[in-house]
Amino acid sequence: MSEILYSKITDALVSDGYIIIPNAIGSDLSQNLCTLAKNLQNFKRAGISLHKTINANARRDKILWLNHDNAAQSDFLNFTEGLKEFLNRELFIGLSYFESHFAIYGAGDFYEKHYDAFASSKNRVVTVVYYLNENWVSERDGGELVIYDANDAVIDKVLPASDTLVVFMSEKFPHEVLEAKRERYSIAGWFRVDVKEV
Ligand code: OGA
Ligand code: MN
Repeated sequence: MSEILYSKITDALVSDGYIIIPNAIGSDLSQNLCTLAKNLQNFKRAGISLHKTINANARRDKILWLNHDNAAQSDFLNFTEGLKEFLNRELFIGLSYFESHFAIYGAGDFYEKHYDAFASSKNRVVTVVYYLNENWVSERDGGELVIYDANDAVIDKVLPASDTLVVFMSEKFPHEVLEAKRERYSIAGWFRVDVKEV
């Protein structure tokens, strides 16, 4: 079942470098993850070192790293593990592991334009973003992901709607999160090529 989705993502990464897939994995999973994110404690203000951002006001979300503590997180991590193996098998890109966090943007929160990895930094190679928000209306709720090309031209705008999945090459696409007007839930993750620190 996932194989069709994996191959669609793989083909798009090769041809365009990115893909936006509404209704990607399943609304049950995105709803369960949303409920979980709303109940989990200990979200922390995202560190500026995470993306080596200089400006401390560049992002205003709060994050919590995923683990295997319950079924919904495991389902998502199993999906990304399968994708990692598929990408390695088809593209020989040697992804070593996946790391991901929930992110909550409160009303007024945003994330300025950034890259997830610098060219040839040899760490984050493929970015995955998965959205968890029911009934999101662009004009009313804001919070769109804006994806730019290397020349800073807008190439796409993504509504952070439940079960929408975005995958892109981390070094190729600057992107930003526009100001959210209400609480916005997502998971952001990265396939890496370096060795995991313990
Ligand atoms: C990030 C990011 C995008 C989003 O966390 O690096 O760009 O739409 N997130 O949440
Ligand atoms: Mn990012």
